[in-house]
Amino acid sequence: MNLKRIDFYYFSGTGNTFLVVKKMQETFKKNGIDVNMHRIENSDPEKVNLNNMIGLGFPVAELSTYEFVWEFINSLSQSEGTEIFMVDTLGGISGGVVGHMREIVKKKGYVPIGAKEIIMPVNIFYIQDEEINKGKVEKGLIEAEEYAADIINGKAEWGKIPVISDALYYTSLLGLKITETRLNQKLLYLAADKGKCNKCGTCAKLCPIANIKMGEDGYPENLMHCQYCLRCTSFCPKDAIPCKINYNGKTYRAVKANKLLI
Ligand SMILES: Cc1cc2nc3c(=O)[nH]c(=O)nc-3n(C[C@H](O)[C@H](O)[C@H](O)COP(=O)(O)O)c2cc1C
Ligand code: SF4
Ligand code: SF4
Repeated sequence: MNLKRIDFYYFSGTGNTFLVVKKMQETFKKNGIDVNMHRIENSDPEKVNLNNMIGLGFPVAELSTYEFVWEFINSLSQSEGTEIFMVDTLGGISGGVVGHMREIVKKKGYVPIGAKEIIMPVNIFYIQDEEINKGKVEKGLIEAEEYAADIINGKAEWGKIPVISDALYYTSLLGLKITETRLNQKLLYLAADKGKCNKCGTCAKLCPIANIKMGEDGYPENLMHCQYCLRCTSFCPKDAIPCKINYNGKTYRAVKANKLLI
C-alpha cells in the first residue's frame, strides 16, 4: 500500500480515545506516514480532503456513539473511493456502531478498510481503581499499535457485520432519543457546585456541542441538550461538576486537561 498521508478525525470525552488515536498516529509516523489530527467537534465534514486516507476515532456511548459524531459521519462529502478506517474505544459492549457506520461510508463511495473496537477503562457508572485501569490502558494501547500496523500492511478489515448488529443499532437509537428528553436532562443534570467552582470557564470551552454557557453571575449554565460525553465533569480543574450516576462520586480521566486541549 502506498500510504502517504492520513486525515484522522476524532472525538474523546475523557481521554481514552485520545490516547488510542495518539498511539496510532505515533505508529503511522514511525512508518513515514504523515497524520493530520482533527477534532470532530471543530471540523467541517464537507471539507475533508478526499485525496488522503480518512481515519475516524470516537467512544462508544449507549451501544452506539454520540449524536454529534453520527452527524459528522452522515455529513461527510460523497467520495470516489477514498479509503477510510474507524476505531472506537469502549468499556465492554458496543454492537450497534461498526456495521451501521460501514454501510453509511460505503453508500457515500468510501472504501472501508478497517474497523477496530478497543476496550479501555469504563468512564461512567462503575469507575474502577487506578491499577486496574492502568492495565486496561496498557493493553488497549498495544492493540492500537497493532491495528495501525495492520492498516499499513493492508491486513486490517472492516467486514460485514451480522444482522443482529443492525438490530442493536436501532435499539441504541432509542437510548439516544431518551437521552435527549427533557426529563432525562433533568434527571442527569450536570451542574456546577458553586461552592467549588472558580468560574474559570474551562467546561464551557471543552463542551463539544456548546451545551454550557457562562452565565451573567459568572457560573456555568447547562443548556439542557447534553449528550453526556462527560468532558466537563472529567476535566473541571476544581472537580466541581459531579456526575450523579458515577459510583461513589468518582470521576475518570485518562489524561490531564491541558494534554487533551493541545
Ligand atoms: C454516556 C456514556 C455511555 C456509554 N455507553 C457505553 C456502552 O454502551 N458500551 C460500552 O462498552 N461502554 C460505554 N461507555 C464507556 C465508554 O465508551 C468508554 O469508557 C470510552 O473508552 C470512553 O472514551 P473517551 O474517554 O474517549 O470519552 C459509555 C460512556 C458514557 C459516558
Ligand atoms: S470548569 Fe469547573 S471550575 Fe471552571 S467554570 Fe466550569 S465548573 Fe467552574
Ligand atoms: S455538558 Fe458536559 S457532558 Fe454534556 S455534552 Fe457538554 S461537555 Fe459533554
